[in-house]
Amino acid sequence: MTQDIAPTDAAPIRLPIERETVLDPPPKLSELRAECPVSRLTYADGHIGWLVTSFEMARAVLQDARFSSRPDLRHSAVHQVLGDGQPPEEDVPGMFVGMDPPEHTRYRKLITGELNVRRMRLLEPKIEQTALKLIEEMRAGGNTADLVSAYASPLPSLVICELLGVSYQGWLKIRPVSEKMLRTDSSAEEVKQCFADIFAYLAEVVAAKHIEPADDLISGLVALDELSDVEITAIAFQLFTAGHETTMNMLSLGTYTLLTDPQQLAALRADFSLLDGALEELLRFLTVIQFGISRAALEDVDLGGVTVRAGESVTISLPAANRDPARFPDPDRLDLMRPASSNVAFGFGVHQCVAQQLARAEMRIGFRTLLQQFPALRLAIPRDEVEMRDGAIVYGAKSLPVAW
Ligand code: HEM
Repeated sequence: MTQDIAPTDAAPIRLPIERETVLDPPPKLSELRAECPVSRLTYADGHIGWLVTSFEMARAVLQDARFSSRPDLRHSAVHQVLGDGQPPEEDVPGMFVGMDPPEHTRYRKLITGELNVRRMRLLEPKIEQTALKLIEEMRAGGNTADLVSAYASPLPSLVICELLGVSYQGWLKIRPVSEKMLRTDSSAEEVKQCFADIFAYLAEVVAAKHIEPADDLISGLVALDELSDVEITAIAFQLFTAGHETTMNMLSLGTYTLLTDPQQLAALRADFSLLDGALEELLRFLTVIQFGISRAALEDVDLGGVTVRAGESVTISLPAANRDPARFPDPDRLDLMRPASSNVAFGFGVHQCVAQQLARAEMRIGFRTLLQQFPALRLAIPRDEVEMRDGAIVYGAKSLPVAW
């Protein structure tokens, strides 16, 4: 049933980004959701569009083909250059993240085919080996470490390298460039250069897979003989960039959350079969894509009582949707035993995270290995001193000093 939305005459606001508490989205988002879950929003470039804050309206937009993902049509509420973390180039073939069906569907099918159950099964033991190796290195360095640089960051990167068939040396080469590309304080020129450097590196990898194929995703796409090398490079690029920061921040912020909630951590340690449910709750509660995602209306659309005009952008606040009391009772409480109920941390609709099963496997194995290997894991500094990535597109801890 569609909830009634009172059309508002309120002046457009800027996207609320100031948090009052580290683990909760800006309180203004809850006020907006209660007053008017589709409200007017001023974008960074002056465009006046919309902000969606309820779960129901978020899903309505994300599953509606009248809303486009094309970066040349939509505006970004937060950062004009990066949009939702996408590269600035629009004309490269294969950039499926910014496409609409049916173009998007074709790429999506080919990628889903490569991210199959067999490949996921093959990856799982490798994820565990990588996690154990990183932990061994942490131990070799003493009894404290920064969890972000020692574990949460390298684990997803190394897993993506394994998935794509990119060498560790390759990762070392493109890692700093990728970091710079996703920083909100990088200039448009710098972002463009980073994009070109990563693209050039991955193009070399794709070329090499023609000569020496292996059992990896890039070789799989090459073997299909359906895509040009530029398209395959673009796909590899998007997997590489989309899959790192998200999982890294879920691992570090998730660990921070568990370490600062000893009771729930103890329950989890006592019964690791709770982990799958706990992951869904951490995904919901933390929703690290903190400024949401955006779409552009291709025609006039009635959205629960307000009319979104063709050409207007809509920002869907995933954190606000995931704290909607109409969907999740007592939404601001972290409850690792919460009964399962799907949330929008991975998005919804045709663009819903294509690698969510991989991300879940990384988190399941990443958290379990860490907690089992370090039964006395704790923060090495007071919780209030942990610095967070306030202005970053993907929220998390800048660093997380831990001891064991
Ligand atoms: C916990 C970790 C992750 C979170 C929270 C996350 C979240 C999301 C969200 C919200 C979207 C939808 C974007 C939109 O609709 O505009 C998305 C799409 C996507 N994600 Fe993830 N993601 C995660 C991990 C990963 C990983 C590990 C990879 C790659 C290895 C990845 C690759 C992608 C790609 C390529 C898309 C675009 C799909 C499409 O447009 O069809 N993500 N992700």
